[in-house]
Amino acid sequence: MTLPNYHIAVIAGDGIGTEVMPPAQRLLEVAGARYGFSFEWEELEWGCEYYARTGAMMPETGLAQLAECDQILLGAVGYPGVPDHVSLWGLLIPIRRAFQQYINLRPIKLLPGIESPLRKVPAGGIDFLVVRENNEGEYSESGGRLYRGSPQEIAIQESVFSRFGVERAMRYAIGLAEQREGKLASATKSNGIIHTMPFWDEIFRELGAEHPNLEISEYHIDALAALFVLDPARFDVVVASNLFGDILTDLGAAIIGSIGIAPSANLNPEKEFPSMFEPVHGSAPDIAGQGKANPLGQVWAASMMLDHLGHQDAGEAIMAAMGHVLEETEVRTPDLGGSASTEEVSEALINAFNAAAPA
Ligand code: NAI
Ligand code: MG
Repeated sequence: MTLPNYHIAVIAGDGIGTEVMPPAQRLLEVAGARYGFSFEWEELEWGCEYYARTGAMMPETGLAQLAECDQILLGAVGYPGVPDHVSLWGLLIPIRRAFQQYINLRPIKLLPGIESPLRKVPAGGIDFLVVRENNEGEYSESGGRLYRGSPQEIAIQESVFSRFGVERAMRYAIGLAEQREGKLASATKSNGIIHTMPFWDEIFRELGAEHPNLEISEYHIDALAALFVLDPARFDVVVASNLFGDILTDLGAAIIGSIGIAPSANLNPEKEFPSMFEPVHGSAPDIAGQGKANPLGQVWAASMMLDHLGHQDAGEAIMAAMGHVLEETEVRTPDLGGSASTEEVSEALINAFNAAAPA
């Protein structure tokens, strides 16, 4: 039997993206060596530097190149000098849409050895998933600007919610809730947003009625944000639109200790196209080049890629190595209150991985 060799596109991107990617690749390699698979990296130097040279975030053949790969690992894109909407719409959003990565799965889990900034949360007290609709919603190209530069200037931005798009995101979230505690919460704002959000709620109720085994609840996004802080233990799976899910998961990352830890999987659940795995954080220009970026978000994202490839045992072994370093050692980057470098955390993770007995 030949061992699987995965062809992975690696877009480290900008800023700390290039610093947190190598630790994730090293762990994937040691995991493959133990669990019987290997990687061939397709390193793609796309991002804001590429934009400065060429005027585009990726080549015209970019999506076709990615389509040839099994999966995509992404670091972060964005750098001062290139407007953020250019970097996002020139790379990430086209990838998410072309490859029907309509689920953005973001675990919000307090890892062992990390203290939440929330005073009352016990160890293990936060463990839920946010399912963010990733292909439509508020992130839409529909709209425009009129009378630019005049006092009458206006901007119109339209949200796009389709039954197809909303249903498939909700059905995915339902599937996850069924495998977990059976609790599903929906993020809405149907009091203030009077077309799309009542539509979202209607579909949520219809699907909820098909699944009487689930405990479903609806929260306005503002109240939900407060509950992430006041009572995060109540959540199991939260389903949200593109914008709401994006905002909620930065808050989620904060309550689990640092934005530097949180992972994000852009999934094409049918596996018809490559999926893309990235940390929630951005390129952090304020700390880029200093060797102190936390690599754990990128490493956790790599572990989610292994789950998606069907190597859950290897993905769990990476999470166990992370847990070991956090619980048993002082090796952590400054965002978690430590003084270790990215490289030192990477070394500690490899050592912890290698020291653990094969499952
Ligand atoms: P950011 O996530 O880059 O940084 C926010 C804060 O968290 C900064 O103080 C940063 O130092 C810190 N931080 C982030 N990741 C960290 C890590 N791994 N270790 C330690 N500290 C970390 O968000 P910001 O500042 O809003 O955006 C910076 C750039 O990144 C912008 O150009 C933005 O558009 C882009 N961005 C890109 C994303 C992506 O590629 N998916 C996501 C979010 C932002
Ligand atoms: Mg975000």
